[in-house]
Formats: sequence, structure tokens, C-alpha cells
Amino acid sequence: MSPKSTAASQVHAASASTGTDKLLLRALRREPTERAPVWLMRQAGRYLPEYRAVRAQAGGFLAMVQDAELAAEVTLQPIRRFHMDAAILFSDILLPLQAMGMELRFDESGPSLPKPLRTRADVLALRPGDPAADLAYVGRALELVKAGLPRDVALLGFAGAPFTLASYAIEGGTSKSFLELKKLMYRDPATFETLLARLADVVTRHLLFQAEHGAEALVLFDTWAGTLTREDYRRYAAPHTARVVRALQGRVPLVLFAGQAEHLFEDQCAFEPSAVAVDHRSDLAVAFERARGRCALQGNLDPGVLLSTPEEVTRRTQALLDSVRGRRGHVLNVGHGVLPATDPECVAAFVECARGSRP
Ligand code: CP3
Repeated sequence: MSPKSTAASQVHAASASTGTDKLLLRALRREPTERAPVWLMRQAGRYLPEYRAVRAQAGGFLAMVQDAELAAEVTLQPIRRFHMDAAILFSDILLPLQAMGMELRFDESGPSLPKPLRTRADVLALRPGDPAADLAYVGRALELVKAGLPRDVALLGFAGAPFTLASYAIEGGTSKSFLELKKLMYRDPATFETLLARLADVVTRHLLFQAEHGAEALVLFDTWAGTLTREDYRRYAAPHTARVVRALQGRVPLVLFAGQAEHLFEDQCAFEPSAVAVDHRSDLAVAFERARGRCALQGNLDPGVLLSTPEEVTRRTQALLDSVRGRRGHVLNVGHGVLPATDPECVAAFVECARGSRP
């Protein structure tokens, strides 16, 4: 780390006498900040050799997630290396489905749920899911991370939005076409509605549980919301997302993420989450105009740019920061998760650019 960034972090750590002074939390409240806080979606993961080393010993992704000590260790790895302004718990959005009784596997090709939900009977057979009991290791991992975090770094918890969780539960894994989801949604809207309402309940409880165990802000990932037209989003997905956001309002700051969802941006701002995450295909300065001060914005470097060189990352990140300079409530991030082929030096250049320690 350069001398300049060390001095800056000392000044900041000194002002962080209470947890709510942390740079990320101030930006989420849209208070003036000396610079944009920075973290990256999927900042812990396969692009880090130290992550791959732990994973090789652990016997798979789920084993890592469910072992609070390993989960805490890999959560802290990117913070030690790059000193982002936030740590996001190493976990997964699909765990509440397991708590509801669904079988869940992860292999090299991603997640799979071998018995997907296709009928009303399937949906009614789900358990409500009790995060405090079924996902107790999440609470323990958060506490371990909190104990190991530098004082100026905020701790983030997260969950999947009801619509995105429903897509995995119905499709049985990651989908490109969402055929089964759309069949159920259009042919049996009452069952689809029942499923989303149950998911909204478990997600709300999971988020509150994480806040009780030390998460200072939360992210709600609606990765696949952009697959819906605005009309269908409003009809089928938005009411359940809105219910989750409302349950957290005034309690814990919440960032709402949706992939490729420029057409849903107004609706997302209207829920009044603390922040909306902006996809890298959207222009961030235009998004600030459209948000009209209703929420902070997170984003939005194309994670593909992190496959270039540190110099190119610096140039592009600087241009992004310049395009929104003077705006309150900007949290610098990538538009979607860091790709496994990323060179850690490019992540370093991104973080250092936000900290003002690279020309
Ligand atoms: O660093 C972090 O961002 C925190 C950890 C985190 C993971 N998954 C770890 C993970 C978070 C926040 C998630 C959220 C998540 N999980 C989402 C929403 C965010 C997004 O990317 O849109 C989704 C859709 C999932 C479901 C999921 N989990 C998929 C589709 C995959 C396979 C794709 C992939 O990258 O391999 C996973 C596995 C997963 N979750 C990995 C990690 C680090 C890879 C595991 C490995 O093989 O080591």
C-alpha cells in the first residue's frame, strides 16, 4: 500500500469511533464523503490464490460456506489483500432454499437443485425455513468476521430476492430461458404468488438474523429480475421485493441489485432502498439523474474490464469516478461479480483508484 493510502485509512479509522461513521454507511445515508467507498461483488472467490488454497482443502463450496471459520477466513482474504471499505460474508443466496427442505448441490458448473418445484403440491410441501436454526453457521461466521475486521470496514450480509430464488427453485439451477418459471408464473399465478410470498418471509427473516449477528448493511440480489418486462415485474415480482425492503427500512441499510434491469430502475428507486446497484450497461451519471436523490447508487465498472491491465483499469475507473464526482451517495463497485479469470493486480488498481492512491 502506498504511504498516501495508509495515511488516509488512518485518518478514517480514527474518525470511525462509532460503527455508523464508516465510510460505506455514510455514503449509503447520502452524507458527504471525502471519497467514494469501494467494494466488489464476488470479491472473495476463485480469482484469489489464497481462496483456491482453502477451497482445495475444504472439499467443496458448500463445505466452506457451512464451516463458520472457513467462511470467515475467505471473507477476510480480500480485505487483507486490498483493504476494501466493506467485507461481504462468504455465503450463497440459495441456502434458504435448503432451509426450506430443498436439496442443493454445487459443482464446477454451478448450483443445482435436483428436485425442482413444478406443482402447487411441491410449493405447499416446503418448510417455512428458520434461518436462526437452519443457517446458524451464518450467524457464527458473521461474528467471527466482525471480530477480525479493521475498524473502518463495514460488514455486509445478503440474501436473494424472492423472484431470483424462485427462478432457481423452479428451474433447478441457473437458466438462460426461464421456460419452467414462465410456465408456472403464467399458467398458475396463484401458486407462483404463494411461492414468492413464502420466499419473501424467509428472506426477511434471514436478513434480520444477519443484522442481529453483526451485518451493518445488507444486499438483496435480484440477479434475474431483468428477464421480466416492466409490466410482469410490477405484477409478479415487485410486491414481494417491496415487502422485504419495507421490513428492513429504518433498521438496516439495504442495497438492491438487479442484473440487466435498466427498464426496472424507476421501480427499484421507488421502493426507496438505501441504494440501487447499477448494471455496467447503464450510464452511471444518467442513473444519478434518474434517481433524483431518492437513494444512493452502487456501481458500475464492467467486471470484464478487470480482465485488462492495471493501467487500463485505473484509466476506466478514474473516468467513471470523474463522471459522477460531487454526487452524494456513490458506492464504487463492479456492475456484476468479479470473474474467476481476473488478475488480482487489476482488483488492486480498482480499489487504489477509489482510495486516491494511484495517479
Ligand atoms: O464475495 C462475495 O460476493 C460473497 C459471496 C457470494 C457468493 N455468491 C459466493 C459464491 C455472494 C454474494 C453470492 C450471491 C449469489 N449466488 C448470487 C447473486 C449474485 C450474482 O452473482 O448475481 C447468485 C445468482 C448465486 C448463485 C450461485 N452461486 C451461482 C450461479 C454460482 C455459480 C457461478 C460461479 O460463480 O461459480 C454460485 C457459486 C458461488 N457462490 C461461488 C462463489 C464464490 C463459486 C464457488 C466456487 O466454485 O468456488
